[in-house]
Amino acid sequence: MSYTILEKKQIAPQVHLMKVLAPDVAKAAKAGQFIILRIDETSERIPLTIADFDADEGYVTIIFQEMGKTTKQLAQMTDRDVLLDFVGPLGKPADVRKLGTVILVGGGVGIAPVYPQVKAYRDAGNKVISVIGARNKDLLILEDEMQAASDELYIATDDGSKGHHGFVTDVAKKILDSGEKIARIVVIGPPILMKVAAGMTAPYGVETIVSLNPIMIDGTGMCGGCRVSVGGETKFACVDGPEFDAHKVDFNLLMSRLGLYRPEEAQCQENHQCTCRSGN
Ligand SMILES: Cc1cc2nc3c(=O)[nH]c(=O)nc-3n(C[C@H](O)[C@H](O)[C@H](O)COP(=O)(O)OP(=O)(O)OC[C@H]3O[C@@H](n4cnc5c(N)ncnc54)[C@H](O)[C@@H]3O)c2cc1C
Ligand code: FES
Repeated sequence: MSYTILEKKQIAPQVHLMKVLAPDVAKAAKAGQFIILRIDETSERIPLTIADFDADEGYVTIIFQEMGKTTKQLAQMTDRDVLLDFVGPLGKPADVRKLGTVILVGGGVGIAPVYPQVKAYRDAGNKVISVIGARNKDLLILEDEMQAASDELYIATDDGSKGHHGFVTDVAKKILDSGEKIARIVVIGPPILMKVAAGMTAPYGVETIVSLNPIMIDGTGMCGGCRVSVGGETKFACVDGPEFDAHKVDFNLLMSRLGLYRPEEAQCQENHQCTCRSGN
């Protein structure tokens, strides 16, 4: 089976949005879930969060950042190209319920997976306060969409080029300090952001949820690649997650495991560039 790319556009430097025709996945998808795709028979499988979906039109939107060989190869594809595999929806859906006021925090490309959750929490009757951030204003994605879907939207940039000069966690802390009753905080972004956010919210005793992105291979609970330690227990992020209680996650272990294949990834990237340059 193959999956046609209906639309592909660049939305920030090295960040791309793709709408992929995948009716079965679109029909079953829920906020918080992800897919695993493969470009062709020789490609590796990579997991990407479902950033949006339309069950009627039968497409799923993914947003990805160029990191290494596969995402760079994916970035070169365009409308009407086809992907060999597009497996999903995988992972447990986010536990979205009416809770009251919820803060949703998205850092960098983590804004993409936060977006469907903002819509889902609002549809469930919550007041949604969104906080999005990036290194600079050019790297901010989905700002208009987040504005439309949220009750309140705050922006932070590391260099101060837009919104608060600093981190999304500073803004979330200010909201907590304002005294407004917050029922839950959801934080999605790079592991270091999620780790810092977990430490920041702990003294407030506010339930904090993170969406983990460990190394994944099969996405079905069989390979053990995505194991993470949560509350001292080993969990598989692909079938037990990807969402977990932030205050129970061993982020140091997660971050060290993410660096496990760095030499191989660098080698793979170098070989890819050599092949591209030679035109083979
Ligand atoms: C559940 C989940 C959801 C994700 N959602 C998104 C998303 O919405 N947008 C996005 O841009 N990225 C997302 N990622 C990360 C994405 O899978 C990696 O960026 C991608 O696999 C990189 O592949 P590469 O060959 O281009 O780079 P590589 O050179 O192979 O890797 C670069 C870095 O990406 C990470 N990575 C590589 N392979 C994997 C893998 N199989 N599983 C997890 N991390 C990996 C590692 O930290 C690595 O150092 C998600 C990861 C997971 C597990
Ligand atoms: S990716 Fe293989 S067990 Fe989760």
